[in-house]
Order: sequence, then structure tokens, then C-alpha cells
Amino acid sequence: MEGSPPEPADALWWRGAAIYQIYVRSFADGDGDGTGDLAGVRARLPYLVELGVDALWFTPWYLSPLADGGYDVADYRTVDPAFGTLAEAEKLIAEARELGIRTIIDVVPNHVSDRHVWFRAARAAGPGRPERALFHFRPGRGEHGEIPPNDWVSEFGGPAWTRLDDGEWYLHLFAPEQPDLNWAHPAVRREYEEVLRFWFERGVAGVRIDSAALLAKDPALPDFTAGRDPHPYVDLDELHAIYRSWRAIADAYGAIFVGEVWLPDTERFVRYLRPDELHTAFNFSFLACPWDARRLRAAIEETLAEHRPVGAPATWVLCNHDVTRTVTRYGREATGFDFAAKEFGTPTDPGLGTRRARAAALLSLALPGAVYLYQGEELGLPEAEIPLDRIQDPMHARSGGKDPGRDGCRVPLPWTADAPYAGFGSATAPWLPQPRSWPRYAADRQAADPGSMLTLYREALRLRRTGPGFGDGPMTWLESHSGALAFVRAPDTGAAPDAGALICVVNFSAPPAPLPPHTEVLLTSAPLTGGLLPPDTAVWLRA
Ligand code: GLC
Repeated sequence: MEGSPPEPADALWWRGAAIYQIYVRSFADGDGDGTGDLAGVRARLPYLVELGVDALWFTPWYLSPLADGGYDVADYRTVDPAFGTLAEAEKLIAEARELGIRTIIDVVPNHVSDRHVWFRAARAAGPGRPERALFHFRPGRGEHGEIPPNDWVSEFGGPAWTRLDDGEWYLHLFAPEQPDLNWAHPAVRREYEEVLRFWFERGVAGVRIDSAALLAKDPALPDFTAGRDPHPYVDLDELHAIYRSWRAIADAYGAIFVGEVWLPDTERFVRYLRPDELHTAFNFSFLACPWDARRLRAAIEETLAEHRPVGAPATWVLCNHDVTRTVTRYGREATGFDFAAKEFGTPTDPGLGTRRARAAALLSLALPGAVYLYQGEELGLPEAEIPLDRIQDPMHARSGGKDPGRDGCRVPLPWTADAPYAGFGSATAPWLPQPRSWPRYAADRQAADPGSMLTLYREALRLRRTGPGFGDGPMTWLESHSGALAFVRAPDTGAAPDAGALICVVNFSAPPAPLPPHTEVLLTSAPLTGGLLPPDTAVWLRA
């Protein structure tokens, strides 16, 4: 970055890393009880090495009643017994590091579990007591205090307030089991700084910050009037001081942050990525984009342009534990995927979706910056349908059953086609049912198939890791026919790309696309036809 002293390349690993998200509960079951765990992850480290990822991001593994899949943390210094022990987490972090894989953990500062010792004390203490000042407790409105203190709505639907028997209400932007912390309280800030140190001391290389733009609240807790500026709880200016102090702690350990920052306003978004704040943030505009050349190009250009002034690398994400799986999303021909309208029930064509997901993999892995993969993406898993009576995600119930929730992308992984529960490791039925088709996607079957999604990801990650031109660095668009995107990983010199430069071409339209001049075809997401790039196909070339 301009102005800062040169850093050893290894310290900048995060600028171009391929990071694999592990949803622990559904990755691999080591003890057979139906829930994924750290033993399962440790046993699968060789798989992750072979896949070729640089780091693992673990969704919360702390003690939790799992009212929101672990995003309701009861104790940050204890690993949930369903997942293992603290000693086992330490071993996992160390073993992965030995194998060249770093660990990123998930920290959830907006709220804790209602079983957290702080909330239990606050609840027991009663109205007006200092224990309540760590949260947002308020009397209700109306004659008997029966109306919530304001009109805020939970992200999962329904009011953002729950009333206790003593008459006071407490704020929860998510489920009632997730009371929001009061970030104006110094004890809250101190505690989270200690939590960061606790895990950095254990060798963690980075932290993903959950709901990073929601922590600070307008202390008056005013009603949310549409269009009100500033918003009473999204993206408040106070947040930046918090993240500056976090950054100083991370810097002392050489650790990094990735923020979950959903903000449509790109100028506001990049404020979190200033050099003394977060290193990176998830790029959701790319993920939310339908399979459309023009719109994807615009999303890529906007992303790169917004990151440039702060010198932060972009991140590319195709899916995570909160959104419909890529194969299913891209199989929705007409409209693609739109966050605002999640398109429940829109028919999907898995063949088309898979073809596009393969091309999208090569596209995202060739773009400048870091890439996040979500477990099962490398297996091309589709979104699973969960029988209504088995849905666990609180989003479903709180939306009055309108939203199917996020369980469809959280189904236990298939490892071995011919084993019970597709080799997830369980001796008893896993916590979410697996579709009957799961063995077809099993890792062992795909590993032996040169045309599989797993083989494509392995080969792409190998090339990305070992070849020049990937990860952090410049890119320049090349001319291409109207339904295609083409770029070279080189600075814009106005001349033809240098020999050996990496070129990526993606064809989104029906007519096969001609390829730019090249010396070598490195990898294609589907075979070329007569030297042309078929529809919904991507290719990597050397100039
Ligand atoms: C984030 C997580 C999501 C969780 C929510 C509340 O959006 O990704 O899974 O439900 O925060 O913690």
C-alpha cells in the first residue's frame, strides 16, 4: 500500500487468500452423535490441504444453546461440548497451521446469548440495576407499558423487543435469545478486547466480525422512520473508534479482520476499510448479482473502485451459511438472485445452475483479492429442501413461516457415497436431514471423477496458488463480444498483455465466444467447442 513500509509477503497473505468457511455443525461428525465437531474437522484436514485453501473461517464454536446456530454465544472462552473442547480447538489451530492453513474465528459483538452470564445477571437484577446497563432495557410505552419501547423490527421478523415478567423490555435485533449489548458501556468494549486477545494468544490469525455495522445504537432509541438519516442503529459513526482499537490489538499479533458489513452505500462501506480499521469486508454486491455479464461487470468495477482509495483488497464470495446455494441460485434462469426478494419457490434448473457455478468459480478465483468458499461449494451442492417440521433456523418461525430460513445451505456434508448418512460420520440421524441425492455429491466419488466440481476447484486452487497473476494485484478489461467478460491480470498499459499474463474469459450468452490471443489454455469450466467458449463457461488462458 502506498505510504506504508514494505511488509514481508507472508504478512500480506490475507490480501489474496482462498479462505474456506466451515460451518462446524455440518462439516464432519467425529464422534458420531449427529452433529459436526472439531474432531471431524481435524480428521478432514488432509482433505482441506488437498483442496488447497490458505485459511479456514469457523462459524462460532463457543458454548451456545444454538438458538441461532451458535451466533448466540453463552461463553467465548469455552468451546461448546457438542463441538469439542478448548484444548481441541487449540490443537486444531496448531495442526492446521503446521499444514500451512491459518484459522479465522467468528466473533459476534452485537449480541450474546440470553444464557450468557451477563444477561442472566441482568435479568435477575431487575429494573434500574447496573447489570441491565450492559444491554438495552427500557420500560414499554402505552398505559401499562405493554407497547414495545420503539418500532424496530428484528432481522428475523417480528418486533425487536421482548418483555420480561418484571415489565421491562430488552432489545434484540435478531432472535429473543440474542439480546443486544450496549456498546456505549465501557465494560462491553473491554470484554470484547479481552476476547480478541484470548483467541489471538491461541494462534488465531484472523477474526470475522458478525453484523459489524449494527453494534452502536442511537442512545435515544428513537422510532425508525423510513429514510431517517442517520439510521438509529445501522452504520453509526461510533463504530469506527471501536474498530480502531480492535485494529491496534490485531496488529500486535499480526492478525486480520474481515467484517460482515452489509451497506448499500459504498462510500460508507469503505470507511470500515481505512488503513487503521478492518483489513477486509465481505463483498455482498457480487454475491447478490444475478448471472448477467453487464451487471456482474458493474459489480466488479464498483467493488474495485470503492476499495482503491483505501488500499484494501476486495473479497469475492459466492455463498455462505446465510444464502441460497450458488448452484440453485444460478439455476433460476430468468431473474437470477435478488436479496430483496429471495425468490422462494422459484423453479431452478440444477444442470444450468451447476454449469454457471463452475464458471463463477473460475471467475471469482481469477479476480483481484481474496476469495471465500463455503463448505460444499466445492462439491457443487444444491440448496436442500428441509421438511417443514425439521426446520431449525429461527428465521423460519419468526417470519411466520414465510421465509424457509437458511437450513437448506447448512445440511451435513456428504463425504462417502456408500456410507451411512453419506459418510458425514454420524451413527445416528444428523441434526438436519440430508436429501436422498446426497451420495451423488460425495467427496470420495467426486475425487475420482475428472469432470467433477471438486476436481475443478482443486485444479483451480492449485493453479491459483502456484501460478503467477492470481490474488492481489491489478486487472484490466479486454474487449470481448457483448455477452462475455474478459480481463487480464495486468495493469492497463494500453498495449497487448505481456506474455504469460493470466487471462480470464466468461461467456454468459448463447453464441459461443471467440478467445483472445493466447499461448496456453490453463483450465476451462466446460470443454471448448471448436476453439470457442460455449455459453455459461469460463476459461483461464496464458497470454
Ligand atoms: C450474521 C450471521 C447469521 C446470524 C446473524 C446474527 O448475519 O451470518 O448467521 O444469524 O449474524 O448473529
